Amino acid sequence: MKTAPYPVHILQAKDCTLYAADGTEYIDAIASWWVNIHGHSNEYIANAIAKQASTLEHIIFAGFTHTPAIDLSKKLIELLPNHFAKIFFSDDGSTSVEVALKMAIQYWSNIGHKNKTTIIAFDNAYHGDTFGAMSVAERNEFNAAFNPFLFEVKRIPIPTKKNIINTKKKLSEWAAIGDVAAFIFEPLVQGAAGMQMYSSEHLDELITIAKQQQIICIADEVMTGFGRTGKNFAIEYLQQQPDIICLSKGITGGFMPLGVTVCTEQIFDAFYADDASKTFYHGHSYTANPLACAAANASMDLLVTEKCQQQIQDITKSLTIFATTIVAHSFVKEIRQRGTILAIELNTQEHSSYFNSIQSTAYQYYMSKGIFLRPLGNIVYIMPPYCITQQELAQVYAVIKDSLDVLFANA
Ligand SMILES: Cc1ncc(COP(=O)(O)O)c(C=O)c1O
Repeated sequence: MKTAPYPVHILQAKDCTLYAADGTEYIDAIASWWVNIHGHSNEYIANAIAKQASTLEHIIFAGFTHTPAIDLSKKLIELLPNHFAKIFFSDDGSTSVEVALKMAIQYWSNIGHKNKTTIIAFDNAYHGDTFGAMSVAERNEFNAAFNPFLFEVKRIPIPTKKNIINTKKKLSEWAAIGDVAAFIFEPLVQGAAGMQMYSSEHLDELITIAKQQQIICIADEVMTGFGRTGKNFAIEYLQQQPDIICLSKGITGGFMPLGVTVCTEQIFDAFYADDASKTFYHGHSYTANPLACAAANASMDLLVTEKCQQQIQDITKSLTIFATTIVAHSFVKEIRQRGTILAIELNTQEHSSYFNSIQSTAYQYYMSKGIFLRPLGNIVYIMPPYCITQQELAQVYAVIKDSLDVLFANA
């Protein structure tokens, strides 16, 4: 708390602009922690919530259902690759992961494999801040205090051309032991790790091994879902489909907290039984809140429009062009892009990390220029709302370009 920057008081926000109490305006170039895909205070979503609020604001989601949840389930199943069948609602990204892990472990228990409890995850993974999510995430400063309470996980590195043979070997060896319940991964982009990216071909190879060994594959699309990677879902780049997907963040366009965990019919069937002990006993008070579902329905209506799909393609192209203009700068170590995500790794004296000291200097610099960018250590990234204009993007690019000279000179 003491070392964090003093919070900026925001009074209002519209599209990509944040209006602060002191009169300053900022362009939100990271969609407020990656949630705000259609920009701030979007009227269509706001109206959908208002209409829902005067119809049905909430109803317990045990023994009851309601129209926004039914509509959202249908919409999601239609939009996702046709392999998926059922939706489980929760509150945010972390709880969607908790649900996925519990679902995978109980699936095996329900069908008589109580020893299948091991989880495999990637090095440097981030899946949220609840205990299960922290357990499958990388052990680091963020969760150090809780280490004694986190369950053990087997780890493999994200695949690269260099390590793929060894990574496949390691995965196969662990899989062969026979106690692995699930393999969880952030498909194609590890967000919190600093926008680390890897190829869909390599992920396909790992999923193939996992499937051959009866391991449930969980794609954590909390960050990558809803257009971020250039397709509606990162798994659309894959030949091999996971069994479970976690979704949140962009699902409501940043209006309401909501998490969903999507699974196949095969997983669902293991819970659908006369024996009550096979029930998936997991629920939150606000599970499938109608206002959140109404926001998600409206957000998805917007996502599938030609206009929004074109905006995603235009941002992707624009970021690619911008990258070519800075790639040769001495302060740029590496540039990575997947769809509407562009990451610029700065070449500092310190090693690449969330705690790289350039972070606060860079953050303050961007804020002083009216651009809200929140570098992950020495990784500056752009992940804008899809409604960002070419003019706003040009402003973001100009400030980043200048920052490379200014920050480099002072580094
Ligand atoms: C891949 C991934 N999974 C899970 C989460 C946790 O989501 P939430 O912050 O909504 O709990 C995040 C958050 O950044 C994430 O990037």
